[in-house]
Amino acid sequence: MTVIKTRRLLLRPLEPGDTEDYVAMRYHPEVAKWLMPADRDPTDSARVSIDRFAASWRDRRYAPWGVFLGERLVGQCGLNFVPEFDAVEVLWALHPDAWGQGYATEGAQAALDYGFGALGLGLIFAITKPENIASQAVMKRLGLAYRRNVVYRGMDAVWFDAVNPQAPSSPRDGSPDRPPPPPSHRS
Ligand SMILES: CC(C)(COP(=O)(O)OP(=O)(O)OC[C@H]1O[C@@H](n2cnc3c(N)ncnc32)[C@H](O)[C@@H]1OP(=O)(O)O)[C@@H](O)C(=O)NCCC(=O)NCCS
Repeated sequence: MTVIKTRRLLLRPLEPGDTEDYVAMRYHPEVAKWLMPADRDPTDSARVSIDRFAASWRDRRYAPWGVFLGERLVGQCGLNFVPEFDAVEVLWALHPDAWGQGYATEGAQAALDYGFGALGLGLIFAITKPENIASQAVMKRLGLAYRRNVVYRGMDAVWFDAVNPQAPSSPRDGSPDRPPPPPSHRS
C-alpha cells in the first residue's frame, strides 16, 4: 500500500478506524447526490468499500486513498478499477467544508502521476453526471479530455480520459500480460 504526501495533503489507504469519518464525507447529502446510491446502510456500505479498497491494494497496487488534512479525513481520491469498462478511473469526492481550495485537483494529480508513473497505466478515465460541472472542472484542470457520453449502471455520464505519454501501449489496468481491451461500447 502506498502513502503519498502532496504539498498540502496526506493520501493514505483507508482503514476500518476511518469508517465513521468516511461515512460523514461520502454520505453527506451534497456529496452523495453525485455518486452511486448506497445499496445498504451507509455505515455498512462504507465498511464494504474500505474492505474492497484494501483488496484492491493487495491485488492491483492501487485503490482510492483517504484524503487527509492533518489528521482530518476530508475526502477520497485515487485510482479504481471499473470492470464495466475494463479500465482504471481516477475518482474524487470531498466533504463540502473542503471544497474550493484545490484539494481534489491536488490529490487527483498525485493519483495520475502514480498511475502513469509507478504503475505504468496506459489510460486513465473519469466519468461524472453531465450536470456535475465542479467535477468536470477538476477533469479539465488535470488535462483530461472529453471523449464521449456513456451509460454507467443506468446513469448517463460524460467520459474524460488521458493517455500516458510515456507508455501509450501499456495495459489499462497495470497487469503485465493482458492485452488492451476494446474501446468502450457504452456510448
Ligand atoms: C467534485 C469536487 C471534489 C470538486 O471540488 P472543488 O473544490 O471544486 O475542486 P478542487 O479541489 O480542485 O478546487 C478547485 C477550486 O478551488 C479553488 N482554489 C482555491 N485555492 C486553490 C489552490 N490553492 N489551488 C487550486 N485551486 C484553488 C479554485 O479556484 C477552484 O474554485 P472555482 O471552481 O470556484 O474556480 C467537489 O465538488 C465534490 O466533492 N463534489 C461531490 C462529489 C463529486 O461530485 N465527486 C465527483 C463525482 S464523479
